[in-house]
Amino acid sequence: MRLADLVAPFGRCRAIDLGCGSGPTLRAVSRVSPDAVLLGIDRSEGALRQVAAALDDHRGPVAAIAADLRDPLPIADRWADVILSYNTLECVPTPETLLAEVARVLRPGGRAVIAHVDFDSLVVAGADSELDRRICHAFADDVQSWMDHADGRIGRKLGLLLARSPLEVVRVEPFLVWSSEFTGHARRRIELIRDVLLSAADHGRGVVGPDEIKEWYGAVVRVAGQHGFFFSELTFIAVAERR
Ligand SMILES: C[S@@+](CC[C@H](N)C(=O)[O-])C[C@H]1O[C@@H](n2cnc3c(N)ncnc32)[C@H](O)[C@@H]1O
Repeated sequence: MRLADLVAPFGRCRAIDLGCGSGPTLRAVSRVSPDAVLLGIDRSEGALRQVAAALDDHRGPVAAIAADLRDPLPIADRWADVILSYNTLECVPTPETLLAEVARVLRPGGRAVIAHVDFDSLVVAGADSELDRRICHAFADDVQSWMDHADGRIGRKLGLLLARSPLEVVRVEPFLVWSSEFTGHARRRIELIRDVLLSAADHGRGVVGPDEIKEWYGAVVRVAGQHGFFFSELTFIAVAERR
């Protein structure tokens, strides 16, 4: 995983993952830094319960803390060598406040690696370009039930947000995942889009009706069977350091 490669030079470090979920990013860090001190922070107790299992073969210490990222981080000044976050910043209504906290918690010379899919740039080629666009935009804009806030365009804003933070931007990398096969990540993302939009419609937040969502999914599957499928997803990875 590219995020883990960007922290590998820090070796046996103290690393925090903000919005760690069930721990996939920490697991990737464990592979490159098996003795690192790993700390996951998330407010979902259910997700945090899975972190220990995801990291059961990690050699260094592991901890998972329940905290709300809208509040000050429950970590001492300059404690961390590395802070990561993947696909979480869009949920925080004032990302500037969280990035100021990241700067407080990083030691001088420490590194932040903040990555996010720019969901408003999703490309899906199904059968009807107008419906593909409408579905992708509805997914990017939806504030799902577990979110306080959503910004489907946060990926493209990461560089600017970090440039305005107390951190110094090292670089911003684009990372494109694409597929012409309806398998793996592309299939999982499309099924997630379908499920999220069906749930949004069910809860009265939908801008696309359930029949259209099912019609879209059916068209994507049909086109994939005729070798006409395309999917792409652009992630931006911002690397910044505390001076
Ligand atoms: C899209 S998931 C990404 C999880 C993980 N980074 C991954 O790549 O699988 C976003 C995570 O952010 C967490 N989250 C959202 N808002 C939060 C908040 N205000 N405080 C703490 N965690 C939050 C959610 O519980 C969820 O686990």
